[in-house]
Amino acid sequence: MTQSNRITFPSDFLWGSATASYQIEGGAREGGRTPSIWDTFSHTPGRVLAGDTGDVACDHYHRWQEDIDLMSELGLRAYRFSIAWTRVQPTGRGPAVQAGLDFYRRLVDGLLERGITPVATLYHWDLPQELEDAGGWPVRETAERFAEYARLAGEALGDRVGMWTTLNEPWCSAYLGYGSGVHAPGRTEPESVLRAAHHLNLGHGLAVQALRGVLPRDAQCSITLNPAVVRSASDSEADLDAARRIDALQNRIFTGPLLEGAYPEDLRRDTARVSDWSFVRDGDEATINQPLDFIGINYYNPVLVSASEPGSANSKNDGHGVSSHSPWVGSEDVEFLEQPGKKTEMGWPIDATGLTELLLRFHREAPGVPLYITENGAAFDDKPDATGAVHDPDRVEYLHDHIAAVHAAMEQGADVRGYFLWSLLDNFEWAYGYSKRFGMVHVDFDTLQRTPKTSARWYAKAIATGELPA
Ligand code: NOJ
Repeated sequence: MTQSNRITFPSDFLWGSATASYQIEGGAREGGRTPSIWDTFSHTPGRVLAGDTGDVACDHYHRWQEDIDLMSELGLRAYRFSIAWTRVQPTGRGPAVQAGLDFYRRLVDGLLERGITPVATLYHWDLPQELEDAGGWPVRETAERFAEYARLAGEALGDRVGMWTTLNEPWCSAYLGYGSGVHAPGRTEPESVLRAAHHLNLGHGLAVQALRGVLPRDAQCSITLNPAVVRSASDSEADLDAARRIDALQNRIFTGPLLEGAYPEDLRRDTARVSDWSFVRDGDEATINQPLDFIGINYYNPVLVSASEPGSANSKNDGHGVSSHSPWVGSEDVEFLEQPGKKTEMGWPIDATGLTELLLRFHREAPGVPLYITENGAAFDDKPDATGAVHDPDRVEYLHDHIAAVHAAMEQGADVRGYFLWSLLDNFEWAYGYSKRFGMVHVDFDTLQRTPKTSARWYAKAIATGELPA
């Protein structure tokens, strides 16, 4: 390969990997932890494929030392993990539980000893069940409780964690949790989707304020979104309008208040049938509009939409699992079209160009705010061969093309500071249980043995050289 074809990254580029508490920890009843909505949901028959639960998951709660050794062996520079709210504040109220804080303190200390930068996410979908019983994200109090928990976590870990993310993919919490019901708590209430989205946004704003009050001045606060790259099937007015509506419902419902301090007018109009938005109080949008030190972006694939006749909607395809309820409040008549080309094991189309597009959009819309890819990766049906090795050439190709797409955005000016591969380990893939493997490290869910796949070795080489292996 000639010099000019080499894809090289700055020496301080933060190469990492990401996980989430419920997906890897297990230890579901240890250290004072109480049920979250995902414990309840996964223990409800019919909600998760094969009845899988996160009771044991990757048993990271007990094997965290082995896991951080593995990270160190692969040369990771950063590790994005999430804190289980129910370990720190089991009921979502009251003082912090020491055992919960100690677990994360030990983890973070172990990372720091190995030179790995910890990036903590406060909420990766495991709401304390008691708060759901009191109304969940559709009620305002949950946002207030979240800020209180953020303060407790910040106070306890702020001396060693410098990078904080409030929420992971609030779109999923609101739309899949309260709209299609394919995620916990499994409710299917159109107005609750909008109420939840707003209280997640508000929770973020209040949590950033709380964190700033307790963290050192140089600590960084962020949110992680899963913005959709929405493509219209044609230039017809109807199809372009379908794309606009999905863009409002997935993207601008968050970026509006976060970056501009206001919900978009067209979003309010499109959803007027469902809600009058009276749950938004004076001053809320300003509270959500906190300065951000970086924005986390999770990217997997673009979507292709067209308008459909009312009533003939393809409401089954919500991009995140089959459901008879549409999460697209007020836009149920938008059709999500099959895209050509290769797909991952999730059935998601593989198209790295969307990632470049997305980064350039955020570069334009959030000028001056550094960007991190806080998740990107793919599920494939990886199996150990006769020697026990796990070869995953499809994942290597996916990673190569997507990291190259990040580089392309950087060459066009986007200020991207790091990339976190989803995921370190095969883990509990929500409604799909253990049937989908996203890890660069294979996990045998009978023995819990970890085996780095070919992609892990490939990624380690990229990190060590700062350059994409050919
Ligand atoms: C995004 C979520 O944050 C993560 O929890 C999930 O496993 C991946 N997408 C793959 O679906």
